[in-house]
Amino acid sequence: MSSYKALSVVADQPFETPEPNSSKAPSVMNPVLKFEKVGFQYDGRPIMRDVSFAMQPGEIVAVLGPSGCGKTTILNMVAGFLDPTDGVALIDGREIRGPGPDRGVVFQAAALFDWMTVADNISFSLRCAGRPRAERRQVAEEMAALVGLTGFEDAYPYQLSGGMRQRVGLARVLAAKPKVMLMDEPFSALDVQTREVLQEEVLRIRERTGCTTLFVTHSIDEAVFLGDRIFLLTDLKDGAFDTFSVDLPAPRGNPENRLHPAFIRLREAIYRRMRH
Ligand SMILES: Nc1ncnc2c1ncn2[C@@H]1O[C@H](COP(=O)(O)OP(=O)(O)O)[C@@H](O)[C@H]1O
Ligand SMILES: [Mg+2]
Repeated sequence: MSSYKALSVVADQPFETPEPNSSKAPSVMNPVLKFEKVGFQYDGRPIMRDVSFAMQPGEIVAVLGPSGCGKTTILNMVAGFLDPTDGVALIDGREIRGPGPDRGVVFQAAALFDWMTVADNISFSLRCAGRPRAERRQVAEEMAALVGLTGFEDAYPYQLSGGMRQRVGLARVLAAKPKVMLMDEPFSALDVQTREVLQEEVLRIRERTGCTTLFVTHSIDEAVFLGDRIFLLTDLKDGAFDTFSVDLPAPRGNPENRLHPAFIRLREAIYRRMRH
């Protein structure tokens, strides 16, 4: 019902296409994350050059683009798994040199330790850091609550659905209290309903933790629902990409936003841009 209503509102309005901005001049004060003319080559084969952007604290940027355009490569440079071949990638003004506890990565498959309980999986980074058992348990319970897994702390991964396993993966990253969370198509393997609920969770978690998030996806809907801004990548070899600002009402995690006229307009604008 309500979706028909939202669509008719759009049809009644004068058509106004959201315009992308140039990505060439990042104008963020005190950015958490910054790329300055970053280039990358695999074995001499250029993948991207002159890529520049900046992210402000607490911001969620959705990196959207077709398969092979370089999304994972960007995320891997932020994670410190790959070094730029040119330019510089910075976190808090310092050059990124390898992985660090200030960044947490959520992958498509949660890669949980099957022989450990949910609580032990979540608090694994604290165990590595030599934190005492009582503290580990407390953090595990807090993080389980944050991702909606209260009551499952003592379950084993095989007892969980795919969506719940991904919640554990998310909680495990959050337990390390990263400044920046990196998510590489984390929900692509899940069914649509589970995926939408987890998108809402990501926004709710951002409200509560203020974590800056770089979220890679190839779903336009996911990018529009989650992102404060969307970087639409096509071919990064000349460093150009489109940036769209998302203007949806707070709280952003409200599923009704999927029916909002601004959501539908932006989805259409991005779709047309990708196809043109
Ligand atoms: N380990 C690798 N060695 C060589 N080329 C790679 C490697 N990983 C990715 N590539 C190439 O780099 C480009 C960008 O890949 P990637 O960042 O994984 O794209 P996306 O995540 O957007 O699908 C693709 O052309 C891909 O084939
Ligand atoms: Mg990828």
